[in-house]
Amino acid sequence: MHTRALGPFQVSAIGLGCMNLSYAYGVPPDEAYGARVLMTALEAGVTHFDTAALYGFGVNETLVGKTLKAHRHQITLASKGGMAGVPGPEGKPVRVIDGRPETIRRNCEDSLRRLQTDVIDLYYLHRWDKKVPIEDSVGEMSRLVEAGKVRTLGLSEVSAGTLRRAHAVHPITALQTEYSLWTRESEIAVLQACRELGVAFVAFSPVARGFLADAVHDVQALVPGDIRRAMPRFAPDTHAANLRLLSDYRALAREAGCTPAQLALAWLLAQGPDILPIPGTSRIEHLLDNLGAADLNLSADLLARADALINQNTVAGSRYGTQSQLEVDTETFPA
Ligand SMILES: NC(=O)c1ccc[n+]([C@@H]2O[C@H](COP(=O)([O-])OP(=O)(O)OC[C@H]3O[C@@H](n4cnc5c(N)ncnc54)[C@H](OP(=O)(O)O)[C@@H]3O)[C@@H](O)[C@H]2O)c1
Repeated sequence: MHTRALGPFQVSAIGLGCMNLSYAYGVPPDEAYGARVLMTALEAGVTHFDTAALYGFGVNETLVGKTLKAHRHQITLASKGGMAGVPGPEGKPVRVIDGRPETIRRNCEDSLRRLQTDVIDLYYLHRWDKKVPIEDSVGEMSRLVEAGKVRTLGLSEVSAGTLRRAHAVHPITALQTEYSLWTRESEIAVLQACRELGVAFVAFSPVARGFLADAVHDVQALVPGDIRRAMPRFAPDTHAANLRLLSDYRALAREAGCTPAQLALAWLLAQGPDILPIPGTSRIEHLLDNLGAADLNLSADLLARADALINQNTVAGSRYGTQSQLEVDTETFPA
């Protein structure tokens, strides 16, 4: 697979979002199968693996650490802190955004232990904790760099203004935010800020959480706990409206000679050499399907038609519900 620059690292053009092996959509696979997905990715040339303290409250980092430990030197390992599990009522962990310096330091130590490594290549602030100045959170992360615990820093779901403030404290290597045909907020200002500052753009949810892979037909059948149940675009009415776009989208993929997921990823890769998609999957056949997008060379005309078919003006529903919307810090399109 061809490679792209992720700050000082040269990584596979398509990375692997590891979250799905432990959390989020449907029922996660068992540990043995999850390890097979990771090893298949490695053998297929993936060198960029993305995890977080949050995913499965440490379970995902533990799986990634155990499976990839022997191959640590071959990969660029990214993880995230500042949003993790803390003991809640009845002892069950609950998700908390906490960007205080002491928490970030503790999150990082916990991640290093679970990942079975001495250093994390790219360490993100998963969410900006708006109770803590971004300068304080990133300032502590810069001390993790000084201490040799992390090599480079990233931010997730922040606005162009917050990125600039953080970058003034310590160079930011990557910004990770949702970006796909159906989620375009980054095009308002963040992408431009990344380009001005030389920050790589890591695109999460690049196949629209399964929608652009033609994998979500019946939202009523999503299992309890599937995070899409709380997302407006997967509410029955909006999903039904969005499904109406899919038949033309499928036809475009057929015309391109690729699968719907590959079309979504090829469109992203074509947005610039600084865009690094990290599709997530819990299935080997989907992983291989996604990686096939790296070798496609689709015409500008076909990509423009995909762009015109699926964009912020044609898709119904906002990407997050009210609570999660409050937790992100991105520019929004005028209503
Ligand atoms: N920074 C953040 O706040 C943030 C937020 C969300 C995600 N992320 C990161 O980004 C990664 C990817 O995002 P994501 O998982 O939310 O969204 P995604 O990659 O757009 O979609 C994942 C969903 O699509 C399905 N899928 C993927 N490829 C497919 C294919 N070729 N054919 C059919 N179905 C396919 C998966 O199901 P199967 O399991 O059945 O393949 C899964 O349900 C995550 O793993 C995580 O590392 C970061």
